[in-house]
Amino acid sequence: MRRDTRASTVDRSGVPLLGSVHRIAHDPLEFLGEAREYGDLMGYRVLRDRAHVVVHPDAVRTVLVDRDDAFRKGSMIRRQTGTLLGKGIFLAEGDDWRGQRTTMQPAFYREQVAAYGDVMVDHAASTAAGWEDGEVVDVAAAARDLTLGVLVEALFGLSPGEDRELVARAAEAIATRFDSRRVASFLPDWLPTPTNVRYRRAMGDLRARLDEIIAERRAAVEAGELPGTDLLSILVTATDEGGMDDDTLRDNLVTFLFAGHETSAIALACALHALATHPDEQATAADRVAAFGDPAADPAAASERDALEAIDRVIDEALRLYPPVYIFFREPVEDVEIRGHRIPAGSTLSLSPWTCQRDPRWWDEPDAFRPGRWVGGSDRPEYAYFPFGGGPRACIGARFARLELRLVLATLLSRYRFEPVTGELSFAPSANLRPDGSVRLRVHGR
Ligand code: HEM
Repeated sequence: MRRDTRASTVDRSGVPLLGSVHRIAHDPLEFLGEAREYGDLMGYRVLRDRAHVVVHPDAVRTVLVDRDDAFRKGSMIRRQTGTLLGKGIFLAEGDDWRGQRTTMQPAFYREQVAAYGDVMVDHAASTAAGWEDGEVVDVAAAARDLTLGVLVEALFGLSPGEDRELVARAAEAIATRFDSRRVASFLPDWLPTPTNVRYRRAMGDLRARLDEIIAERRAAVEAGELPGTDLLSILVTATDEGGMDDDTLRDNLVTFLFAGHETSAIALACALHALATHPDEQATAADRVAAFGDPAADPAAASERDALEAIDRVIDEALRLYPPVYIFFREPVEDVEIRGHRIPAGSTLSLSPWTCQRDPRWWDEPDAFRPGRWVGGSDRPEYAYFPFGGGPRACIGARFARLELRLVLATLLSRYRFEPVTGELSFAPSANLRPDGSVRLRVHGR
């Protein structure tokens, strides 16, 4: 099963001027899959930028953990998403980033996340209540609705209500703007293409609404209402105390809406589809849930560590096969050496969970959905699996996302059996690994 590690970089610069843009746009997942042939790193070029896909897990570790001080998020990602994420935590660097992360961390402490369990189970139970025995449902759309509802209620203390439409429109405009299959997605967003115009308008509407929400919360705090412990209250308080300016606060709300909503929705839809197409695995998972009891009856017990281990293994495996963040970027601020290769300052490093998490050097039958592979130990390198990134800039919402996935999957499995209508999953990779169109499953009441 294991093939030799080839300590090589190969330059696939592609055609002059565009570099590999056409190849990436044609099929980004195939491009990232081919990188596995190159052992350590695969060199390529996007327009004028020199880039490498980081293929070896030890090289991933060097970038994210051991030498994280030598890297920043980088100009490529800033150029592409700067107008979306602004001054928020995702693109912030140095002391600014550290300050923001420290301010927000209390909203993600273990006890605080566990307290969101009720909200997660409530939303799952009401989604399930809206389905009928024998109905065909689009679980991709249902998952987006559900994770948006959970995020907005748990982190912002709001019910999405009529704002659902506004956020959905912005999410669509963003996904189209960053669809990696469009060559134009590699160009700056000030160019007045129809997609960019739609994107800027949707983002303008969303920002205006977020400003209103911030003003309402601030007025409530000033009127003497106790600030809540949710993220919005924490950020409003930090802004009032001079720790963050208003633009950064608003950029952070945008950041959280998009970092925390579609990612979790993709994981949920892909996990449900994988269970539907693997009836034996589904039956095992549903049996374990039945033995535990309805999570809605005791969300606190279902939130405890190891409470629903079989479901957690399904989540591990779904995040391995379908990493919602299938690629992210770093740029060295000085020349660095990675597994014997010299990487010049200012070049782009692409870290790809999609590449590493299906590499046959570390995974038997890498394309098969087998939650059982997570039972017991393994000798694979730590960074053969990094759906939430790693090191100091690892996902701040990982615990939140994992708990949400566990409680929602368990609640849905306790009420329904899923049967595939959509056969194979296909993807429209954008900033995230979006399923292409609907993911249709037939639900059978238990
Ligand atoms: C399955 C769901 C999720 C996946 C796969 C995921 C994945 C990731 C990854 C890979 C990163 C690191 C990016 C990098 O290093 O450049 C990241 C960062 C981040 N994620 Fe998530 N995420 C998920 C859910 C969430 C949720 C639910 C939230 C919020 C509640 C969230 C908020 C963030 C934020 C704010 C960052 C930036 C952290 C920083 O730079 O300090 N994510 N996420």
